[in-house]
Amino acid sequence: MQQPPRLPGVSGRASAWRRDRLAAAERGARECGDVWQLDPDVYVAATAGPCEAVLRRTTYEYATLPGTFRPMKRIDGSEPGPTERAHGHAARMRGLRPKAVAARIGEIAPDTARFAEHWPPDKEVAVLPRAQRVLADIGCRYLFSQDAHALQEAGARLAEAREGIINSWPLPGWVPTPARRFLAGQQAVFAQMLQSVIDRRRSTGRLGDDLLGQMLRPSSQYGLLPDAAITDSLTGLIVATAETPTRATGWLLLTLARHPQVADRVAEEAARTLPEDPHTITGAHLDALRYTQAYVREVLRWRPPNWLLARRATHPTELGGYRVEPGTTVLVCPYTAHRDPREHPAPDQFRPERWLDASGSLTTPGVFLPFSTGPRACEGTAMALAELTLLTAETARRYHLSEPAGPAPSHQVTTFGALTPAGLRLRATRR
Ligand code: HEM
Repeated sequence: MQQPPRLPGVSGRASAWRRDRLAAAERGARECGDVWQLDPDVYVAATAGPCEAVLRRTTYEYATLPGTFRPMKRIDGSEPGPTERAHGHAARMRGLRPKAVAARIGEIAPDTARFAEHWPPDKEVAVLPRAQRVLADIGCRYLFSQDAHALQEAGARLAEAREGIINSWPLPGWVPTPARRFLAGQQAVFAQMLQSVIDRRRSTGRLGDDLLGQMLRPSSQYGLLPDAAITDSLTGLIVATAETPTRATGWLLLTLARHPQVADRVAEEAARTLPEDPHTITGAHLDALRYTQAYVREVLRWRPPNWLLARRATHPTELGGYRVEPGTTVLVCPYTAHRDPREHPAPDQFRPERWLDASGSLTTPGVFLPFSTGPRACEGTAMALAELTLLTAETARRYHLSEPAGPAPSHQVTTFGALTPAGLRLRATRR
């Protein structure tokens, strides 16, 4: 079996990849097809089939590379084995599966309405920091309910430390850069504060109905999850609840500004469907926001924040007819997979309707990988879709959004770590 084709001029110091990674990825998919070679030991899965194949075979022929959820070093030096990892996943999903999220919509909705209500009208506003604050609040309350206020500050510093890592040059994992030392310090502070909350909940027997409460309960299959696994999980989750959803919110609001007719339709649906008092919003209201849900999916297809996912082959395997040796890095590219015309006809058109069938119900027109798929897919998919749908609906129903007038762009597209409308500024005028 041969190696995948190489894209000329794409690697090396002054390469196309370094200059503009999105454009180079699109060129690779267009000129080389399903799988192409970035470097001799780095392949890119560019279209729907190979992307799905790699993600679904993760933990079999492929491993994830250290990323957001790299657990910190435990004080006792222990490392989670496969059983503890499966137990941790099951415990988290008790609180994150669609039914559990649907039951807590009434807790998420008021913050999304507050985000819209408090938007200062008629002036340019930096969108991402505002979105980050509200999403962090929603996340912290979802995880820790009445203990959220005690952990919010430390959680915010952890997120800030993590942002410092994303925006720094990717040196090998063992280099103790200041940003990495700062992150490790913040992780330790957060874990310590969380441990005292855990101790108190256990000693009073009031475990709580939030995500932490779900994780503190024994499972019939595995028994009690060790505290170290709970603190590991939640130091990752507290960051995850705000980090990627903030980037997604940036794209969602920017796209409302750029597609006013679509925004009008979202606004009309929200006004018709959502009650005035956000505390009374339920899963049924959310389900009824069909066009807005289709809109959110189309924006995530169009601008998937995690546009490039990294895997390493652990066993000899094949991909798209090419041989993959163990040790090869395979970059999975949802950005180009979402533009595969075999899956999404007219992929360059922004068309939320593609996610609706003739009766207006949600449908699945093609491969959809913003949340990855397979054994390491996003655990927060249901929560993210719920909060982003409500945030979009509550904002569109109150405001027309627009980009600032003048020659300066409203944002810069950054691709380092994640696809982000960095520095995004928008203006809101009341409908
Ligand atoms: C728009 C919002 C979000 C997007 C686009 C997103 C995307 C993703 C993606 C692509 C992955 C897999 C990374 C990989 O395969 O290398 C992932 C993993 C994960 N996400 Fe999300 N995510 C979002 C929101 C959330 C939220 C709100 C939570 C928590 C409540 C969350 C929790 C997680 C966790 C725990 C994992 C790791 C799963 C594992 O490694 O087994 N995510 N996310």
